[in-house]
This record gives sequence, C-alpha cells and structure tokens, in this order.
Amino acid sequence: MKILGIETSCDETSCAVVENGRRILSNVISSQIALHRKTGGVVPEVAAREHVVKIIPVLEMALKKAKIALPQKVAPSGRINRLAELPLGLIDAIAVTAGPGLLSSLLIGVNAAMTLALIYKKPLIPVNHIEGHIYGNWLKDETPKFPAAVLTVSGGHNELLIWKGHGEYKFLGATLDDAAGEAFDKVARLLGLPYPGGPEIQKAAKAGDPTKYPLPRAWLPKNPFDFSFSGIKTAVLYLTKKMSPRALRQAKSDIAASFQEAVCEVLATKLANAAKKYKVREVQLAGGVSANTRLRELARELLPSKIPLRFCANLTLCTDNAAMIAAAGYFRYKKNPARYKKWRPIIADPNLELRAF
Ligand code: KG4
Ligand code: ZN
Repeated sequence: MKILGIETSCDETSCAVVENGRRILSNVISSQIALHRKTGGVVPEVAAREHVVKIIPVLEMALKKAKIALPQKVAPSGRINRLAELPLGLIDAIAVTAGPGLLSSLLIGVNAAMTLALIYKKPLIPVNHIEGHIYGNWLKDETPKFPAAVLTVSGGHNELLIWKGHGEYKFLGATLDDAAGEAFDKVARLLGLPYPGGPEIQKAAKAGDPTKYPLPRAWLPKNPFDFSFSGIKTAVLYLTKKMSPRALRQAKSDIAASFQEAVCEVLATKLANAAKKYKVREVQLAGGVSANTRLRELARELLPSKIPLRFCANLTLCTDNAAMIAAAGYFRYKKNPARYKKWRPIIADPNLELRAF
C-alpha cells in the first residue's frame, strides 16, 4: 500500500511516498531555515506563505522521485493542467499532519490533502505530528518492539510515554513549560548562535567543558516523569547578562556544553527510569532533539545494556518530514480502514493531543 504523506506543521514543507508504512519511496523536504534565520525564529505568517509557494513543487517532486512519474501530456486547451495530471492513481491513501503545530502552517497541508483526497477519491488520514515522529523509527528494516519507552523531544513537544501497541499509549509525563528543543533554540539565541539552536549548541559544545557552569536540573519529585526547562533557560539568561560581549564570546563553548549536558542528563535519566520501572523491551528517541549525539550517548549509558536503544540514524528522519507522517498514517489506516473511507473535512488543531487509535 502506497501512502502519500504531507507535513507542513511548522517550517518544513514536505511530501513523501511510503510503501506499507516502512519503505521510503521518496521524502522531499523544503526547509525554511534560511528564511527564519533572518528573524532568529519562525514567524508564523512567513512560514505559511512559504508553504503555499512550496507545496505543489514539493508534491510533484515527491511523486516523481517515487517513480510515480508525471505524465507530460498537454490538455486539449494547450495548457498543462498540472493538478489533473498528478498521477495519484498509484497512491492508495493520503496522510496529513492535522496538529499539533502552527495553525496557519497546518492549514496549507491540510487543505492540499483534503483537495487531493476529494478529487482523486482517496482515503484521507489525519495524523498527529508527535505520532509521526514516533513512527519515524519504523522507517528502517528492523521492526521495533512493544512495549517501548518513548521520549519525544522536539521544538514544540516533549513527552514520555509507554508505547504498548499501535495507537496504544500510556502517558507518563510531559513538559510543564518549554520543550527541550525550544530551550536549545532560546539558549542558542542568548549565545548569539543562529536558528535552529540545537545543532549549533551541539557544535559549540564540542570545544566546551560540560562541568564549567553547574546549571539547574529539574527533577520534579511530584511527577518525576514530567519535565521543565524554563529554569535552566533563565539561569543561562542571568549568567550571560553579567558578561561583557567579549567574555560571552570566550565562554560560549563552556556554556553550550554545560547547558547541553544538563538538558540531556535530565532527559536520559527520566527515560532510563521509565524503561526500568515499566520493564520495556526497547527504548526509543523521537523528534528533532533526538539528533543530539550527547543525548543518544547518555541514554545508552544510563540504560541497562540488555535494553536496545532505537533512534533514527538518518538525521533527516529525526526532524520534520512527511515520510514519518505517511508511516503513521499507514498504521492508523490498517487498524480501522473503514474509518477513512468517507471523505471528511479535517479540523487542523494546533494543540492536538495524542490519542489512542
Ligand atoms: O521535530 P522538529 O524538527 O520540529 C518540531 O516538531 O518541533 O524539531 C526541531 C527542534 C529544534 O528545536 C532544533 O533546535 C532541535 O529540534 N534540534 C536539536 C538538534 N537538531 C535539531 N536539538 C539538539 N541537538 C541537535 N543536534
Ligand atoms: Zn516535529
């Protein structure tokens, strides 16, 4: 079964074709990073406008790359009617991110998917973006195992859950304020590093001493599986405020390393504790921050050696992409195909919560 995935929840326009939820036939991503670097972060209207510009070219390229070649016929009018000529006949269903994310960005993908599904009479599957990140781990040969302890860490979300089966979750905790990726981005800004901050902090941290600045770790005894990163962000703010621009330049690597160590230690420790408590068969990292090498290292160190640690080795699959949305759509569809037979509008929801399916 070939699913066309569409993802526009934040600042990546992406379309992909995935076969049977596991095999990527194409995964085209148009990143807006260069655009948002100018403002140091994502401006929602600017992101939405760029999605509108990119969605059709990205869709065409994804179909072409998947060898669902575009026919070159010209309509009787003499003009190429591109939409009518998209070879969606070879696609079995369309999956699209319905939330969470920026509303104005989500609407572009949702509108495109709804239109294509209506014209081509294809099942339309709304997908939760976080679920998409989790299913990124299915896009490789080895099949993940249930139950798994899953840490989702992105710019907008940060959850810890036990994944018992397809669409069966037990929630352990989430962030009470900032997501880890958001903290990486904000601290990078304080250090004068460009957007997105995560990879920049990782780079700067390489030359730094992670023990130089003892930054706070929020262990949160009330629910030790919850997270909080606003305290550490404020601590870095006060630390950098006291420094002259020259001193800050010199301290940049040490602050980056100390910050990365503190955040990764909290994430990895909580994940390892959850894995031990719930006796899982494996542990998974999902979302943009799972690209962080120190997080992967620490998680491996803290986990009992018999528990496998899974993450996307391919960095493209850690951050936002439509292949993961197509994969999640496939497993959703397989569980209840009848639910997606009839065309229904999708209500894009910026705060969409993960729900069992
Ligand atoms: O999953 P994602 O692409 O978008 C959201 O769903 O939010 O994640 C983006 C986040 C950004 O905050 C970015 O700074 C962070 O992932 N990120 C990283 C790394 N690569 C991306 N954070 C830490 N280390 C990295 N290597
Ligand atoms: Zn994401």
